[in-house]
Amino acid sequence: MYDLNSLRQEFPVLSKCVYLDSASTSQTPRCSVDAMCEYFFEYAANHGRGAHHLARKTTEKYEETRARLGRFLNVSPDHLIFTKNTTDSVNTVANGLSWKRGDEIITTWLEHHSNLLPWMMLKKKGVRVTIVPHEHGYLNPRTIQESISKKTRLIAVTHMPNILGTVQPVEQIGRIAHDAGVPLLVDGAQSVGHFPVDVTHIDYLAIPGHKGLLGPQGTGALYMKDPESLRCSIYGGGMVVSVSHKRVEFLPPPSRFEPGTPNIPGVIGLGPAIDLVSSLGVRNIHAHERSLGNRMYKGLEEIPGVSIYSPPGTGVVSFNVAGKNPDECARMLDEHRKICVRSGMHCAEPLASTYHCEGTIRASVGCYTVPAEVDALIESVRALTEREMATGSR
Ligand code: ALA
Repeated sequence: MYDLNSLRQEFPVLSKCVYLDSASTSQTPRCSVDAMCEYFFEYAANHGRGAHHLARKTTEKYEETRARLGRFLNVSPDHLIFTKNTTDSVNTVANGLSWKRGDEIITTWLEHHSNLLPWMMLKKKGVRVTIVPHEHGYLNPRTIQESISKKTRLIAVTHMPNILGTVQPVEQIGRIAHDAGVPLLVDGAQSVGHFPVDVTHIDYLAIPGHKGLLGPQGTGALYMKDPESLRCSIYGGGMVVSVSHKRVEFLPPPSRFEPGTPNIPGVIGLGPAIDLVSSLGVRNIHAHERSLGNRMYKGLEEIPGVSIYSPPGTGVVSFNVAGKNPDECARMLDEHRKICVRSGMHCAEPLASTYHCEGTIRASVGCYTVPAEVDALIESVRALTEREMATGSR
């Protein structure tokens, strides 16, 4: 296990509040912010354009992050493109595959809107979207297998639903998909950096830069097993070998998929953050987050009036307090002890609405969370429910 005290020095915000919203976005470490400052103050220029020394240094630093991400995932950097976020990565696949009327996509009831809306939008092109159910927060690979038809063109599943934190059996799903000759897209928004991800059976992995990888917001990536399987969906500068008014010769991937000036400081800031995650060890992070999640689950479970929707054993706990609206409750936790949690439908409304509530309160831990923060949440929720009961009984 790593040294939590010295890790927390990397994240100054953590001394000012109780941050339990890492599933939404992680805090950014000093090393990442320092790298971005260094870029802006020492050598800022554009990427891949220009022969001068600033442009060369910028390109070198930007490409270093791609190499680091490649090493982190154990894939060739040429199979990785930088995007704005996980949503952008999923949309790159949705818009990059060629669809015809009658094609089918299989997705699930566990999905965040970013792995649902891009597929629903394809209905306009005559594509059918099959939504498979889950069993207490887990996908059953057999249910997916039974949904595959000759027309299935893609299976798109979450690795870890953001409301429940349950790890899905993507390896088994990938084997089933490949046996049927269907590619698999995995939404890695809540998995990459939180536990080891093996892309052997994954064709497209949508990766956020700002969650488990601790990078800045506005960074993400897409892993493509076969980059030639996708067409580009946006066009512009920096993606061609040559162009005339009659013909275009595109550069090979990844440049072909990254036209326009990208989020250069963000990508450069992501590099040292990936190194930090690697140095902590993803397995250690997983064990730490699970143990804190269990502590949180057990503590909240014992409080009368608290209903928990997520199963135990994850770093995410979704719950409600009887008689309180989740947003109101989140505000009170913030006012009480500066506890930051997310509330509402969590951009996963179809799943959240199955709990017949106005949304949930979601507390989520990160590699830097300490047990005292989890205990602060438990104590505050207890205080809130006691106050609620006292008010209710008057
Ligand atoms: N997808 C992010 C979340 O789950 C924003 O909160």
